[in-house]
Amino acid sequence: PTAKPVIVAIDGPSGTGKSSTSKAVAAQLGLSYLDTGAQYRAITWWMVHNGIDLADPTAVAAVAGKPEIVSGTDPSAPTITVDGVDVAAPIRTQEVTSRVSAVSAVPEVRTRITELQRSLAAGAERGIVVEGRDIGTTVLPDADLKVFLTASPEARAARRSGELKGADLHATREALVKRDAADSSRKTSPLAKADDAVEVDTTELTLAQVIECVVTLVEEKRAAK
Ligand code: DC
Repeated sequence: PTAKPVIVAIDGPSGTGKSSTSKAVAAQLGLSYLDTGAQYRAITWWMVHNGIDLADPTAVAAVAGKPEIVSGTDPSAPTITVDGVDVAAPIRTQEVTSRVSAVSAVPEVRTRITELQRSLAAGAERGIVVEGRDIGTTVLPDADLKVFLTASPEARAARRSGELKGADLHATREALVKRDAADSSRKTSPLAKADDAVEVDTTELTLAQVIECVVTLVEEKRAAK
């Protein structure tokens, strides 16, 4: 018998291992994978590229529907394009990272991106792992499993500066704490743990341990379905 699609929401601040965990869990269980942060980064990249005044939420809202954002959901090769342009690399630049919180706080941007996320989740035949900040609370409140990943600011900064190859640890920690504060305090669907989410503190865990923990949680939910 074909299993019913399973929907997994993985939320948490940056540097907790959300992306690595989500991709590995999806690959291991044969599910699709969606990085929603990449979508917010992609729309931010388009706004920067088109000279939109990001300090003006009205200007951002007015063009929120313009770029066509397409996400490829294969966990072994996730892709993201804006109006047909591959933006996988430019969305990771400091220029985009420092502006993404402002753009993603605009309600019209969130409505637009949330629609894309729900339609991708609905179309995933075997199910999907969706990672972000508001997936369990807002985007997919009926997810079969919700996980909220946390880690100490020190651990998160260390992981990020490892990824950025030699970036200054102190500066990375400051930037990360600032972005999380902005993402947690915005009015529209802030970063938050859903009441029914399982919280996993990854500070003292290896990536392999976190993956194993989430895979076990998914399998338990599947068995109970
Ligand atoms: O996961 P990330 O660092 O690539 O996310 C980039 C930004 O996108 C993050 O600082 C806030 C925003 N974001 C959001 O508002 N809602 C989501 N579901 C995912 C990301």
